Amino acid sequence: MKGIILAGGSGTRLRPLTGTLSKQILPVYDKPMIYYPLSVLMLAGVREILLISSRDHSEMFRTLLGDGSRLGLRIEYAEQDRPNGIAEALIIGEDFVGDDQVALVLGDNIFHGPRFSALLGDAYRELDGCALFGYRVSDPQRYAVGETDRAGRLLSLEEKPAKPKSNLAVTGLYMYGNDVLKIARTLAPSARGELEITDVNKVYLAQGRARLTELGRGFAWLDMGTHDSLLTAGQYVQLVEQRQGEWIACVEEVALNRGFITADQCYRLGVEMAGTAYGSYVQEIAGRGGALSPA
Ligand code: TTP
Repeated sequence: MKGIILAGGSGTRLRPLTGTLSKQILPVYDKPMIYYPLSVLMLAGVREILLISSRDHSEMFRTLLGDGSRLGLRIEYAEQDRPNGIAEALIIGEDFVGDDQVALVLGDNIFHGPRFSALLGDAYRELDGCALFGYRVSDPQRYAVGETDRAGRLLSLEEKPAKPKSNLAVTGLYMYGNDVLKIARTLAPSARGELEITDVNKVYLAQGRARLTELGRGFAWLDMGTHDSLLTAGQYVQLVEQRQGEWIACVEEVALNRGFITADQCYRLGVEMAGTAYGSYVQEIAGRGGALSPA
């Protein structure tokens, strides 16, 4: 499976923070925002990733993540001229995806919760059509809202409904079979002028090939589109990391756990960040993984 991170957009609700910087490079407590969606793809076992950003910001992401080899990944880059909609990622990424399946994640979403990798693994193994991930929210009117049967099959999907049939919001992580590339090509812009990911998902719904897995209680799904939600996300990460001593979206740790890098490689990445709690954590987990620290 290939992965796409969509990290374009204009970030208007975060101005003036986004005057020169991409939203997805802004700090969320101790790491750039892009680490969070990147770690999601890595947790799903994806090693080949296309990062789509606006032209102005592409270079910054390249400087940050390079070709991905330090994390045992292959990262490529592409640009989206304008925020023409989430589904445009599937058109921009067509050649990159090739004959493969694809997982698409939005660059400003955080997912954190128990058994997340297992849940992603199950969705990937059982993928036939499309796999969506739902989260119960108190304000479903703001989201695409899904309804499922007991087996998790999607029964209905509505974009920002005035009278939602459920409070299960569709989150910014989508897994698709290869036929999604063809479906994306058939889309026409919506009334707001965007290629809508909900229109893609509706095609699978009509074919009876859409599943929606609920991220249950104890799970956190946060997006970081406004000043308040950005700060709240940072505080959440700080709280969990300091209280539990376990890091969220530490990409070095995920790379080590998934076997993308060795413990020694991980240790060296930690040493490069020496003098920070993050760097110490990376060295510590590398040590636990059997890294030989220098004498
Ligand atoms: P949004 O929050 O809908 O848009 P935005 O990031 O441009 O912010 P604002 O509304 O404040 O102007 O986007 C959600 C995520 O998807 C975000 O990470 C940006 C990304 N995105 C794109 O990269 N391209 C697009 O065409 C769209 C619609 C979103």
